[in-house]
Amino acid sequence: MQRRTFLAGLAGVLGTGPAWAQMKHDMGTMGDMGTMGAGAGPGGPMAPMAGTAPVLPQGQPLKELPRLRNRSTRPGRFEATIAARPGVVRYAEGLDTPVLLYDGGHPVIEAQEGDRVAITFQNGIPGQPSTIHWHGMPVPSDQDGNPMNPVASGAEHGYAFDLPEGSAATYWFHPHPHGLTAEQVYRGLAGLFLVKPKSDPIPAAYGDTVLMLTDLRIAADGTMPPSTMVDLMNGRVGDHVLVNGQSNPVMTVAPGEKRRLRLVNATNARYLRLRFAGARMTLIGTDGGLVEAPVAVDEVLLTPAERVELIVSFDQPGPAKLTTLAYERGWMGPGEPKEAGKVLLTANVAGRPATPPPPLPKMLRAIAPLQAPVVTRRFVLTEDMGSMDHGAMPGMDHGGTAKGGAAAKPPGSHDMKFLINNKSFDMTRIDEVSKVGQVEQWDIVNQSDMDHPFHVHGTQFQIVAYEKDGQVRTPGYRAWKDTVNVVPGETVRLLLRQDQPGPRMYHCHILEHEELGMMGVLDVRS
Ligand code: C2O
Ligand code: CU
Ligand code: CU
Repeated sequence: MQRRTFLAGLAGVLGTGPAWAQMKHDMGTMGDMGTMGAGAGPGGPMAPMAGTAPVLPQGQPLKELPRLRNRSTRPGRFEATIAARPGVVRYAEGLDTPVLLYDGGHPVIEAQEGDRVAITFQNGIPGQPSTIHWHGMPVPSDQDGNPMNPVASGAEHGYAFDLPEGSAATYWFHPHPHGLTAEQVYRGLAGLFLVKPKSDPIPAAYGDTVLMLTDLRIAADGTMPPSTMVDLMNGRVGDHVLVNGQSNPVMTVAPGEKRRLRLVNATNARYLRLRFAGARMTLIGTDGGLVEAPVAVDEVLLTPAERVELIVSFDQPGPAKLTTLAYERGWMGPGEPKEAGKVLLTANVAGRPATPPPPLPKMLRAIAPLQAPVVTRRFVLTEDMGSMDHGAMPGMDHGGTAKGGAAAKPPGSHDMKFLINNKSFDMTRIDEVSKVGQVEQWDIVNQSDMDHPFHVHGTQFQIVAYEKDGQVRTPGYRAWKDTVNVVPGETVRLLLRQDQPGPRMYHCHILEHEELGMMGVLDVRS
């Protein structure tokens, strides 16, 4: 659809009514967060004032995310229970924010290649089904927390799978109940899953620091406002990008130190184009683990659900800041957030110079290219504003949220849809039938007006080409990926193979788009 028509339709729906006013109010708190907290200083007092946007403390020491305790004592086993429950977090001083948490926070599961994993999931979310989806992991289809296997509120479910050789990587997990994924994620449900290799080519002296990037929008009273029409169109972005739950935390390093950082974009919809001002970045890994050889980079674009592993060299003393750059992703309607210039993390490079760390190996691992696809599939991404009449949106009509479900139903969003091959997601429909072990070429064609991060469950793929306006670009290095951004007018060509049978989802990882139809089902048969 043409962007003009889309926006005209939007204006018709929004008009000047209360929803529009509410939205403008919400939007008013967005976009100036780059300056927020600037006057407060690190760790200073910042009492909230009535009616003003909450200010989050900055400059506190970077916290490590809690590790989920392994209750198995047998070697090669990881066993634990994860409960999803309502909780309260104090993001801004003096303000309580009701959230949903896994095991009281964002836990990190750390296991090793070859391990057997058994996780008991307890759904303590009042009135809502949920699942745990193991994003990017090679787990059997019926263990993957797909929308087809919801766990009822109050119920318990066991997930079990093996971590095969070669699966070492930074993964994450999140809920995937149809129609509730976006809400449960922005309310706080996400955790990380690190699979470590038997022997790691990255020097231990670099450490291993996990940076989980999430997005937060809180109102003046500390609560999370429900999503607006603009949130549904663009995906919900927050006012604050948090690192391990903190606003611009600080880590201290010695001059000359190198650090291994794993970055995870666990936001609903935020595009993070990042650079490290004052330090050198080397890319060593992507969604599916290490690349073949280190790649020096000036910046990285981390779209929703993507991960990247970096070695950051802190060569000179002084502050080095992980900073966002502008990125144009085809925002629709009002309230486009200003992305440039947010400082997500500050490294204070100070003290005595470090003893020179061991060098990074020239080769990290071999990645065999996937070859000779036997099938080519084409997935065309479009948007459709439909008739734009008034009514509740399918999939948002769930009720039972902590704040009252009615608030989550913006008027006029009835027919807004994001489509793959002109179809809206239907759990009971199989869109594609595939075979175990077969190499396929997938062409992801973006004919919409905005970027979409395309994700496939159950496997990792290799990108072979990006095509746009008759120009073909090939990736500069081979890598395993489970999510790839596709810009408007572009076709991304990838190769993939599913090694286990069963239904697998593929979808846009802007969770609001996934919920509004941009998802399909691949049935893999043996
Ligand atoms: Cu993070 Cu269906 O996935
Ligand atoms: Cu996934
Ligand atoms: Cu999308």
